[in-house]
Amino acid sequence: MSNTVISYSLTGNNRALADSVAKELSAEHIKIEEVKSRTMGSIVLDIIFNKSPTVRPLPDSSIKECDLIVLLGPVWMGKVATPLRLYLKYLKTHPYRYAFISISGGADGSNPGIAGELEKRTGRTPAVLLDLHITGLLPSSPRPTRKATSAYRLKPDDIVKLTGKIMTVLSP
Ligand SMILES: Cc1cc2nc3c(=O)[nH]c(=O)nc-3n(C[C@H](O)[C@H](O)[C@H](O)COP(=O)(O)O)c2cc1C
Repeated sequence: MSNTVISYSLTGNNRALADSVAKELSAEHIKIEEVKSRTMGSIVLDIIFNKSPTVRPLPDSSIKECDLIVLLGPVWMGKVATPLRLYLKYLKTHPYRYAFISISGGADGSNPGIAGELEKRTGRTPAVLLDLHITGLLPSSPRPTRKATSAYRLKPDDIVKLTGKIMTVLSP
C-alpha cells in the first residue's frame, strides 16, 4: 500500500511527528509551508473569517497517486489548523482515502468539532481520526494549563511513543 504523509506545523511538534511517521511508512512527505508569516493574531482572524491561507506547495502540484493520504497538523481554537484547508478542499474533488492525525494541546479536553469539520471540508469521513494530546505526555497533577501545553515541544521519547500509537491505528 502506498502512503503519502502531508504535514503542517507552526512550532514543530506535528512536523517532527510527521517526519517519524513518514519514515516508518516509507512514505513521501509533503511539508506545507505558508507564504505569509503566521502570528497569533492571524490565527484568530483566519478562524473568525473562515480563511484558507495560501500555502506551498499547492496540492495539485504535489499530490501523486497513492492509497492513503495521512494529514498531520495542529488544532487551533478547536479547528484543524487553517494552512491545511486547501488540502482538505482538494480532497473534496479527489477521492483519496485519508487520515487526519494531530498532536494538539488538549488542555481544554478533546476537540469534538474536528470530525464534523473534516467531513464538511472534504465531503467524507476520514479513514482514521486521531487527536493526540500533549496533556497525555505530562503529569496529570497539577492539571496542565493551555500555556504549558502550547509551550511543550515533543521529545525524542514522545515521538517514538506517539509514532507507535499511530502505526497501530494505520495498520490494516
Ligand atoms: C492559537 C492556538 C490555539 C490552539 N488551540 C488549541 C485547541 O483548540 N485545542 C488543542 O487541543 N490545542 C490547541 N492549541 C495547541 C496546539 O495544537 C499544540 O501546541 C500543537 O502541538 C502545536 O503543533 P505544532 O508544533 O505542530 O504547530 C492551540 C495553539 C495555539 C498557538
